[in-house]
Amino acid sequence: MASLGFTRQINSSVAEFPATRPRRRQSSGFSRDRVGFRVFAQAAAAEPDLSVTVNGLTMPNPFVIGSGPPGTNYTVMKRAFDEGWGAVIAKTVSLDAAKVVNVTPRYARLKAGANGSAKGQIIGWQNIELISDRPLEIMLKEFKQLKEEYPDRILIASIMEEYNKAGWEELIDRVEQTGIDAIEINFSCPHGMPERKMGAAVGQDCALLEEVCGWINAKATVPVWAKMTPNITDITQPARVSLQNGCEGIAAINTIMSVMGINLDTLRPEPCVEGYSTPGGYSAKAVHPIALAKVMSIAKMMKQEFGDKEYSLSAIGGVEKGSDAAEFILLGANTVQVCTGVMMHGYGLVKKLCSELQEFMKKHNFSCIEDFRGSSLEYFTTHMDLVRRQQEAIRERKAVKKGLQSDKDWTGDGFVKETESMVSN
Ligand SMILES: Cc1cc2nc3c(=O)[nH]c(=O)nc-3n(C[C@H](O)[C@H](O)[C@H](O)COP(=O)(O)O)c2cc1C
Repeated sequence: MASLGFTRQINSSVAEFPATRPRRRQSSGFSRDRVGFRVFAQAAAAEPDLSVTVNGLTMPNPFVIGSGPPGTNYTVMKRAFDEGWGAVIAKTVSLDAAKVVNVTPRYARLKAGANGSAKGQIIGWQNIELISDRPLEIMLKEFKQLKEEYPDRILIASIMEEYNKAGWEELIDRVEQTGIDAIEINFSCPHGMPERKMGAAVGQDCALLEEVCGWINAKATVPVWAKMTPNITDITQPARVSLQNGCEGIAAINTIMSVMGINLDTLRPEPCVEGYSTPGGYSAKAVHPIALAKVMSIAKMMKQEFGDKEYSLSAIGGVEKGSDAAEFILLGANTVQVCTGVMMHGYGLVKKLCSELQEFMKKHNFSCIEDFRGSSLEYFTTHMDLVRRQQEAIRERKAVKKGLQSDKDWTGDGFVKETESMVSN
């Protein structure tokens, strides 16, 4: 347990959160003796085990539907479970959906061809979509129905509310009554909601974040993940504040503030609504390298300051292949969320993601996710350290060129080269 690290980090204003929290419950889902299962799985199918357990929740694989259109109603969430997604995070809900008014069109795509080209691979996706515009009562009814029909599967509610303690408490209470397994807090929607002091407006202001996380974690009885905005200078700061103030996990990243482009015929920006537009959130393949950098910074901070055992990290951004997920896991992610990838390729994508991740694991003889989670993190260092390492390597190469240190170093295979290395002309 990271209790020592956690205790060291918390300040007096958050000391009410115990390091080990009795309120966290274990999912009945896929719980089993991990070692026993692995031996059995290897004997039967020789397939690497993709199952993960995060904050006491066990999932058949680390692939999670990210909050957005793929988790917007009962029908699509049921489809996600049927196709085999490890967990589903529903579209963000708030108390009063009547205040959420969407526009159409609300998406615009960037293709790998020329500006405005209709051809080419989609590499970037911008949306100006708000949180769920469906009445909360209906969403809650659907969460309850899903949990009744799929009691062993992990359903996570994504929530967002205005700057109002009573409002947050009511929303948490109501979503928890449906039987959902965890809550993700949307501290990160970059458009529309910040105008109401919601979403990124909280995630970009650490003082506000500390206060709101305090309200949330004093109320919640299931694990809470804080979803981070990348639209901030140092993403580790809100991540640290969220963990210090009681959250069990960090999810990153939400979309990146963007202007998708200008139509060079009409001179109007995209997506174009009655001739006008507004900056939106950028996602898909193009954001993957940025997401990797943000996840790497958060993972390093979590490891150094909180220990990496009790807290979870859910990585998001541009995942379409098993290799994209492998990269996030190598940086320390426990789970990997996919949103735009599902919008482009459909729910069946999870099968491809699982088999590609297993191929990667087989290549390296990894039998479970923990065998390689975080393995690449140690290879990130400072530029100064890179310079030091390179100078040391050059010194070593020069030393080799100067010839053998002793007669005992002569080898049969390298004899001619070794002779050459000691000739002066
Ligand atoms: C159309 C659309 C709607 C989204 N709506 C939400 C939302 O309601 N709540 C939320 O937390 N994130 C929302 N997101 C952000 C995604 O969950 C995800 O963080 C982001 O798109 C990056 O991942 P991706 O490249 O896999 O899409 C939305 C993304 C898109 C594309």
